[in-house]
Amino acid sequence: MKLIFELNKSNLNLAKEEIIYLEKDKSFKFFDNYLLIESEKDYSKRLGFSHRIFEFLFKSNKSKLNEKIEKYDWDSLIKKTFCVRIKNDKYITEKNLSSLIWKNLKKPNVNLKNPDTIIFFIFNKEEVYCCRFITDIDKSYLSRKAHMRPKLHPSSLDPRLARVCINLTGLKNGKILDPFCGSGGILIEAGFMGFNITGYDLFKKQIEYCKVNLMHYGINKFNIKQRDSSTIEKKFDAIVTDLPYGKNSKGKNLDELYLNFLNSAHQSTKRMVVIFPSWSEYKKIIKITKWKIKNEFEIYIHKSLTRYIVVLN
Ligand SMILES: C[S@@+](CC[C@H](N)C(=O)[O-])C[C@H]1O[C@@H](n2cnc3c(N)ncnc32)[C@H](O)[C@@H]1O
Repeated sequence: MKLIFELNKSNLNLAKEEIIYLEKDKSFKFFDNYLLIESEKDYSKRLGFSHRIFEFLFKSNKSKLNEKIEKYDWDSLIKKTFCVRIKNDKYITEKNLSSLIWKNLKKPNVNLKNPDTIIFFIFNKEEVYCCRFITDIDKSYLSRKAHMRPKLHPSSLDPRLARVCINLTGLKNGKILDPFCGSGGILIEAGFMGFNITGYDLFKKQIEYCKVNLMHYGINKFNIKQRDSSTIEKKFDAIVTDLPYGKNSKGKNLDELYLNFLNSAHQSTKRMVVIFPSWSEYKKIIKITKWKIKNEFEIYIHKSLTRYIVVLN
């Protein structure tokens, strides 16, 4: 089935790539804040940077839209009530397009408040994409923002970003390790997304915080250990992590920590998504390891903090 994803405009590149990574080598069309791609999967509980999912019905030139609507088999799509919504056009009215569909239905029935089928017409310059609304993206992750968890880590990752990083691994399921797990920002989302989760942190207090947070959200299956990130044991399908970047500990020590972690991780997994602080010379560090940079994204956190999400393989 061809789907259209309505993307979050705050970071369109990340929004589009998290879906493309999940769908691997599929061809796609990206326009405005929409992505058209073939998919059979239900991503409504997975994505971090999308708003809604539609089923693509047909594409038309703006000048031929009426003709296309008249030819479409609406009876096979609309079984009960319907309504029309327009995106990105000020001149064509919902009423006009709705009346064209109405004329082509055997038993037409419009319901503006609670329709069974919502038809969207998304305008993009001279093109129009007609689609059926399927679902909103589940945003219950918003209730798991760092300050809402029982145990807070000062640099804990936003759940939306945690999800994007997990999706950039391209994995649908499997074993994920966060070797700098802190209070569990990444692991909580990975747990909700159905992954088998393991976390390490050097400090006992963080390990305790992480467990308390996971259990608070009903995630009871995990493997959390007090351990140094340079001593990764076992194999994982992916490593997803947000590196420590303590403002006062810039420089050699952290570079060394990153290097030791990257080398140790190479024995344990083939894919990683790692968040580096903007001041780190991560390209130089990665160059002396066996890892290759597949993609990187700049993310603005706040006035004095920018970070880089780096996809490695
Ligand atoms: C940026 S924080 C991770 C935050 C975490 N993603 C969260 O949402 O709470 C980095 C964590 O790395 C831990 N850490 C620092 N050095 C480490 C090491 N050598 N091995 C493992 N963990 C380490 C710190 O204790 C800290 O909790």
